[in-house]
Amino acid sequence: MGTVAAMDDPEAYERDALAAIGRAATSEEVESASVTYLGRKSGLKQSLREVRDRDTGMRLNAIRQSIEAALAAKAAEVERAELDRRLTTEKVDITLPAELLGPVRPRRRGSLHPSTQVRRDVEDIFLGLGYEIVDDREVETTRYNFDALAFPESHPTRSPRQTLYLTDDTVLRTETSPAQIHKMERQRPPIYMLSIGRVYRRDTIDATHFPIFHQFEGLAIDKGITMADLKGTLLYVMRQLYGPEREVRFRTHYFPFTEPSMEPDVSCPICGGVGCATCKHSGWIEMGGSGMVDPYLYEFVGWDPEEYTGFAFGMGIERTAQLRHGIPGIRPFWENDLRFLRQF
Ligand code: DAH
Repeated sequence: MGTVAAMDDPEAYERDALAAIGRAATSEEVESASVTYLGRKSGLKQSLREVRDRDTGMRLNAIRQSIEAALAAKAAEVERAELDRRLTTEKVDITLPAELLGPVRPRRRGSLHPSTQVRRDVEDIFLGLGYEIVDDREVETTRYNFDALAFPESHPTRSPRQTLYLTDDTVLRTETSPAQIHKMERQRPPIYMLSIGRVYRRDTIDATHFPIFHQFEGLAIDKGITMADLKGTLLYVMRQLYGPEREVRFRTHYFPFTEPSMEPDVSCPICGGVGCATCKHSGWIEMGGSGMVDPYLYEFVGWDPEEYTGFAFGMGIERTAQLRHGIPGIRPFWENDLRFLRQF
C-alpha cells in the first residue's frame, strides 16, 4: 500500500484496512494489520507527513481514528478468544486416580451415628412442614422444667430420686418440654417449632433405660388449631419415618401441661401390625406423649387463653432409631462400639 494510494483514495485505504482487521484471528495477525495500516511506513503515515491542506489532514486523521478503534476492538476480541481456548485446553485433571501417585492406604469411610441420622431426618420432615428448629438449654430451672408446665409440688418427677438436681432449683432437664415455654416467652403465635436435644433422668441402666437420651418436641400454636391437626401431623410424620403404610391411634393419657392428653401409637413397623415380639403382639407401638396445650401455659406467659389453641408432642430419638433398625435396646447408642455404629 503506497503513499499515493492513501492520498488518492483514502476511503479505499480505510476499507482495505478494516477488511484486514476483520480477517485477523490471532494477536499476531492483529499486530501485523496494525503495522501495515498505521505503522511508520504505512501509506497513511506517509501521506499524513506530506499533507499540506487542512481538509485532507482532517480526513486522514478521521481514517486513522477509525482504524485505531477497529484494531482495539479486534485486539480485545482475540484476547478473549485466546483466553477461552487456553482455559479449555489447559485444564488440569484433579481427579487423577490416587493409585498413580503412589501406594494407596485404604481409608474406611465413617458414618453418622444412628441418633444423628434420625435427628436430621426428623428436622428435615418438620422443616418441610414449615416448622422452625429451635435449640434449647439442658440445664434448666425448676420454674421452667416443672412450674411453668403445671407439675404439682407433689409430682414424683420433682423428687431428687428421679431428677438430677444441680442446686435446689436447677436441674438437668427431664424432657424437652421447657423449650415450649421459652419459645412462647419470646414469640407470639403463630408458632410452629421443633426442638431436639438431650434429656436426663435418674434411671438405672438396663436394656431399655439410660440416664441420658434425646427427645424431639413439637409445638404448634395458632388460631383455630384442633386435635385433628395434631393427629394429621403425627400421621404424616410417622409415615415419613416408618413408611406409607403406617397408621396412628391415640390413647388417652395424662400430662400436666396438655388437656386433653394423648399417647400416640404407631402401627408396628416391624410386623406391619399383625403382632410380634417388638409390639408385644398388640400390633401397636407407643411413641411418646402429646396433647392440646393446656390454657395454664398461655396464662403463664401472659396471653389470653381464649385467643389461641395449639398442640404439642414429645418423642424419643433413640426409640425412633430402634424401631427403624430393629435395635433391641438403648445401651448400644451410648457405648461407642464401632462394631455397632458401623452398621448404619
Ligand atoms: N414431655 C413428655 C415426656 O417426656 C412427653 C410429652 C407429652 C411432650 C405431651 C409433649 C406433650 O409436648 O404435649 O414424657
